[in-house]
Amino acid sequence: YAPTPSSSASSGDFLHCLSASIPSKLIFTQSSPSITSVLAAYIRNPRFSTPGTVRPLCIVRPTNASHAQATVLCGRRHGVRVRVRSGGHDYEGLSYRSVQPETFALVDLANLRSVRVDRARATAWVDSGATVGELYYAVTKASGDQLAFLAGLCPTIGVGGHFCGGGFGLLLRKYGIAVDHIIDAVLVDAQGWLLDKKAMGRELFWAIRGSGGESFGIVLSWRVRLVPVPPKVASFIVPVSVNDGAVDVLTKWQEVGAALPDDLFIRVIVTNGWASFQSLYLGTCDALLPVMRGRFPELGMNRSHCREMSWAESVLYVYVGSGQPIPVTDLLNRTTSMDTSYKVASDYVRRAIPRDVWAEIFGWLAKLDPGIMIVDPYGGAISAVPEAATPFPHRGGVLYNIYYQNSWAAGNDGEPNVRWIRDLYAFMAPYVSKNPREAYFNYRDLDLGRNVVVGNVSSYNPDDYFRNEQSIPPLVPVS
Ligand code: FDA
Repeated sequence: YAPTPSSSASSGDFLHCLSASIPSKLIFTQSSPSITSVLAAYIRNPRFSTPGTVRPLCIVRPTNASHAQATVLCGRRHGVRVRVRSGGHDYEGLSYRSVQPETFALVDLANLRSVRVDRARATAWVDSGATVGELYYAVTKASGDQLAFLAGLCPTIGVGGHFCGGGFGLLLRKYGIAVDHIIDAVLVDAQGWLLDKKAMGRELFWAIRGSGGESFGIVLSWRVRLVPVPPKVASFIVPVSVNDGAVDVLTKWQEVGAALPDDLFIRVIVTNGWASFQSLYLGTCDALLPVMRGRFPELGMNRSHCREMSWAESVLYVYVGSGQPIPVTDLLNRTTSMDTSYKVASDYVRRAIPRDVWAEIFGWLAKLDPGIMIVDPYGGAISAVPEAATPFPHRGGVLYNIYYQNSWAAGNDGEPNVRWIRDLYAFMAPYVSKNPREAYFNYRDLDLGRNVVVGNVSSYNPDDYFRNEQSIPPLVPVS
């Protein structure tokens, strides 16, 4: 192999090499009429779909592992790097664009999306190109609504990127996060080898479960342990306006959110003038009401707020947040709106934020609608896992995670919105985790830093083949 790709990439030879092993209908080059639509199909943030965006030299859409292996081997031989895209939800678009001019091929896993559920063993194999919605749908159908998987809320998130970076959702207090339940995986490494858990070894298997796949290879599929859920769960959405005491209720929520029984998860969507409390309870409304009256009466949650439904329905109910039931088949919908661009950031809170500060935060949210904060409680199972068990270290002692987002109409530059989020992030510094100030890997934020490439080396991978702007830097110099 050529040791590392360089600026002297030979694009023609690379494409020729690909065509020897991969059917031409799976390769989209600059001259293919459909390359633009194939690229756009899984761009979720229109901010990275502009004439100035650095695009791939070509896109390969593997239908089996050998196509991914061949792309890596050809890339190594002819000096072309690859980036991998599963669901395309990377908040900075790093799965399909490069920040600096760079020649790269895109391996797009949209064709590798099967889900095979083994109900008797309560496990499933899921390909990286499936969405979490497709996984949830298959699991709920195969188990008669009695098994679930614990990953993110947005059904269109790709399994590949999501699992590589952690993956949390409504079941995090009861069962932890996606990576806590991954029991095997199949990966193409920088030599083009196809490795399962045993073949890749303990360290690599540890690393791909939370520190990002982009440093290590192409994860093609995952074996996951499923978890039991009651056939009916309870859910509520209770919006509280600032005029009706949202600041006090939110201040109290900080004490109870991470300390409630593990069966109960209550997150808060904080927007201009409102705090909306959204919940999943693994039980009935009758059982939930006394818990709420005893532990969190300040919210004023009552019977009229509570609905019972299957776990899979609760994902959509909470995600859409309209208060109306959504058909479970919507979990299979892969399309998302391309009307708005967005920028996000994140924080972890280990000590409750004072009431006066929450009042100021509402001032920030009033400054630039549609700024939003999503506050997810920890505690329970997510916090019980030892910090070093996986690369996701936000465990014991975390009260909650904060997600900050601002968005703007696609086509605008969003400069005031990006500035807003940076200013709010600076304002929050005294009130959030410190030394280090923690952030969630999957809420990708290039403001936190980028790799500096020196001598064409940036990443941990000994061959330095897989890398992006935030992949893991080398521990040892690469010769
Ligand atoms: P994408 O394909 O863009 O990949 C993301 C990164 O992983 C890139 O660096 C990519 O190269 C790498 N990668 C992708 N597939 C790989 C593979 N097979 N092998 C190796 N590397 C691979 N998170 C959360 O925990 N809970 C939540 O509820 C939500 N909700 C949510 C909603 C919305 C609308 C968005 C846009 C995002 C979220 N997220 C989230 C964050 C989400 O977990 C994060 O963006 C994931 O990386 C998305 O995975 P995709 O496969 O879709 O991204």
